Amino acid sequence: SSALILVGGFGTRLRPLTLTLPKPLVEFANRPMILHQIEALAAAGATDIVLAVNYRPDVMTAALKRYEQKYGVNITFSVETEPLGTAGPLKLAEKILGKDNSPFFVLNSDVICDFPFTELAEFHKSHGQEGTIVVTKVEEPSKYGVVVHKPSHPSRIDRFVEKPVEFVGNRINAGIYILNPSVLKRIDLRPTSIEQETFPAICKDGELHSFDLDGFWMDVGQPKDFLSGTCLYLGSLAKRSSKQLTPASLPYVHGGNVLIDPSAKIGKNCRIGPNVTIGPNVVIGDGVRLQRCVLLENSKVKDHAWVKSTIVGWNSSVGKWARLENVTVLGDDVTIGDEVYVNGGSILPHKTIKQNVDVPAIIM
Ligand code: GDD
Ligand code: MG
Repeated sequence: SSALILVGGFGTRLRPLTLTLPKPLVEFANRPMILHQIEALAAAGATDIVLAVNYRPDVMTAALKRYEQKYGVNITFSVETEPLGTAGPLKLAEKILGKDNSPFFVLNSDVICDFPFTELAEFHKSHGQEGTIVVTKVEEPSKYGVVVHKPSHPSRIDRFVEKPVEFVGNRINAGIYILNPSVLKRIDLRPTSIEQETFPAICKDGELHSFDLDGFWMDVGQPKDFLSGTCLYLGSLAKRSSKQLTPASLPYVHGGNVLIDPSAKIGKNCRIGPNVTIGPNVVIGDGVRLQRCVLLENSKVKDHAWVKSTIVGWNSSVGKWARLENVTVLGDDVTIGDEVYVNGGSILPHKTIKQNVDVPAIIM
C-alpha cells in the first residue's frame, strides 16, 4: 500500500532549528522526525511513501535515499509549485496513491505517537467506508481539528470542526488518516484544506469514521511542544522497558527517561534527567545538571552548567556555570559564554551570547 506525508513548508514555528535543517530531518529522540513515521509505515506494510513538499528537497533527497534501502520502501518527493494546503497534495500524488484500489495512509509530518497503522487499517476495512481518522483527547482542543459524534454511533463522525472558537468537544484529529482512493475524486488540484473542505464533505455523506488512539500523542511542530513530546516519548519507552533508554542505574542518571547516544561523553559528577536526550558526539563537562532538555549532535555543555527545558542545537556550546531555561532554543553553532543566563531565548545560528538574556526574546 502507499502513504503520503504532508511535509509542507519551512517549519517556521520550529525556528531556529529549521533555519539549518528541514523540519522532518530535525532529530526527535536522536532520530530524524520523519524516520519515526517511515519506520512505522514500513512496519505496517507501506511500500510507496510520498513526501509532499513545497520547496526544493535537495537536502532531504540525499538524506532519505539511505532509508529507502534500510526500510525497503520507495520514497518519492512530490513538489508543489505553490502550497496546495493539506488536501491539494493528495490530488497531486493521485498517480501513486490511486494506483491500485487499496486504501492509503496520510499523515501530518509533525505528529508523534505509537503509530497504530496496522490496527487502523484493520478497523478501516471493518467498517468499509471512505475514510478513518485517528483521534485523541486533549485539554486544549481549540488549536486542533475537533470531531463530534452522535451518541448513537461512537465511531461515525457527525461533524468535523477545524480550530473551533467555541467548545464542541475534546476528541481531536491526530493528523493520521487512512482513506479510500475514492476520496481523491472529491479533491481538486488547487490549494485546498482537507480539514476545511474534504472532511466536512465526507462527513455529510456519513462516510468518515474515527479511531481512538491509545497512549501518548503530540504535535511537535514548535519548541515547547517538541520538549513536551520528547518527555511523552521517553515516558512511553520507559513504560515498555525499552533497551534504547540509558539504564537508570547509572550514577549520573536521575529520575530515568534519559536517552544518550553511545558516542556522547559524560563528565564526572553530573546529574542528568529526567527527560533528556543526548545526541551523537555530544560532550558534557563535570558537574553538569541537565533536565527536560534535548542536546543535538556535536554540541557541548561545559562544567557546572545548568540546563533545563532547552534545546541545544547542533555544534553549539554552553559555557561553564551558564544557566539556560524556559524553552530556550539554540540554533546551529551557537556559543553561550561562561556564567551567562538565558531565559526563554531563541538564538539564531552562529551567534555568540556574552550577555544575559533575562526575558524571552529572539536573538539575531
Ligand atoms: N505539502 C504541503 N503543502 N504540506 C502542508 C501544506 C502545504 O501547502 N500546508 C501544511 N502542510 C503540512 C504541515 O507541514 C503539517 O505537516 C501538516 O500539513 C498540518 O499542517 P499544520 O500547519 O501543522 O497544521 P496544524 O498543526 O495547525 O493543524 C493540523 O494538525 C492538527 C494535529 O496536529 C490539522 O490537521 C488539525 O486538524 C489537527 O488537529
Ligand atoms: Mg501541526
